[in-house]
Amino acid sequence: MKKIVVVNSSPRANGNCDLLCTEFIRGASANPENTIVRVNLKDENFDFYREEQTEDDADRLAREMQDSNVVVLATPVYFYTMSGMMKTFLDRMTPYFESFDGTDFIFFLTAAINRSEMETAVESLGGFTDSVPNSRVVRVVYGSNVLHHGDIVSHPAYREVYQLGLDIE
Ligand SMILES: Cc1cc2nc3c(=O)[nH]c(=O)nc-3n(C[C@H](O)[C@H](O)[C@H](O)COP(=O)(O)O)c2cc1C
Repeated sequence: MKKIVVVNSSPRANGNCDLLCTEFIRGASANPENTIVRVNLKDENFDFYREEQTEDDADRLAREMQDSNVVVLATPVYFYTMSGMMKTFLDRMTPYFESFDGTDFIFFLTAAINRSEMETAVESLGGFTDSVPNSRVVRVVYGSNVLHHGDIVSHPAYREVYQLGLDIE
């Protein structure tokens, strides 16, 4: 029985990250005791990290993540790193990251390029999770060589995330 928060940072509805999230959730939903919260950052309103901050959706989402066991961070690769939406979101988690203590993180990445060139994006995401005490990155899913909407459906990552969801106990 796990609380799972799935955060997609692609602006594309039914894009490659979105489809990976859907398939992962389909697997994780097989256990009715799992609680799954799906977040599409494109539908949320939050500001950049600022010295003086007004409360917004990023704070609400941080509270949602605080009592979760598993957090999926899904991002398209944009210029060898995570999307700007994901970067801004993670920057906004700065006041909270100690409270995500013990969380298991999973990364989903999609890119037009091949896997070896996606590692810089993985390292950037790791810059965040390295700051979270007692956390682990339990899986990185590489949706490489996918450019257009839906390309991911014929990629092995699509089946991988379904199984990953099923395996969460
Ligand atoms: C602004 C922007 C920058 C991108 N930069 C890269 C890149 O550096 N390397 C790459 O392989 N693909 C790049 N892409 C392609 C996307 O990563 C690719 O189309 C991905 O499948 C999109 O995922 P999504 O459908 O979940 O949005 C870029 C796309 C955009 C819109």
